[in-house]
Amino acid sequence: MSAVPAVEPLDADPAGLAGVLVVDHPLVQHKVTLVRSEDTTTDNFRRLVREISQLLTYEATRDLAMETVAIRTPIAPMQSRVLSGKKLCLVSILRAGNGFIDGMLELLPAARVGHIGLYRDPETLEPIEYYFKMPEDIQERMVIVVDPMLATGNSAIAALNRLKEAGVTTMKYVCLIASRPGLRALRAAHPEVGIVTAAIDETLNEHGYIVPGLGDAGDRLYGTR
Ligand code: URA
Repeated sequence: MSAVPAVEPLDADPAGLAGVLVVDHPLVQHKVTLVRSEDTTTDNFRRLVREISQLLTYEATRDLAMETVAIRTPIAPMQSRVLSGKKLCLVSILRAGNGFIDGMLELLPAARVGHIGLYRDPETLEPIEYYFKMPEDIQERMVIVVDPMLATGNSAIAALNRLKEAGVTTMKYVCLIASRPGLRALRAAHPEVGIVTAAIDETLNEHGYIVPGLGDAGDRLYGTR
């Protein structure tokens, strides 16, 4: 049996996008086109991924809890809103997830950062964990898991399973390009986890790469191929 899920036509499951936010903003879409292009150099690719990560963070944090506090401006006292509720932890799925972290931390400077190392078995495409390091109070935090490419969904599902085992109860998943089969698989395994992506591509190739996608995000971020 192939580890790459069968691809279904776009309209086969109109409900398949429940819980998925596709950020269709012109700035995001323009930058996605540039990162997809094979002509984009490593330094530009890294910068664009960072910029897109910030624009996706803006949407992914739209529903964060807020409270009203009393402050004084130089002119007058006022009631104004600040973030409240759970503290945040960004979790990078190594290594490409790291391309998102620095840009996100500029917007969320108090967030902690965890890392999960998973590699795909080249035969089965199943994820195998080699690293897991989280803040001690991870179970009390809202976790935003990041990986630019949601391909088969196997790594994402494994990462979310592992975080739930560690006691995490509130999560979102943020990626740059999601495959339709990967989205379906992730939604089926973790239906309560909201997904934010900049694009949905329909297919995967026989190696588990998203088509048309952008290639290997880790290699393009770090210039390793
Ligand atoms: N990982 C990548 O970097 N790219 C893909 O297309 C799929 C998984």
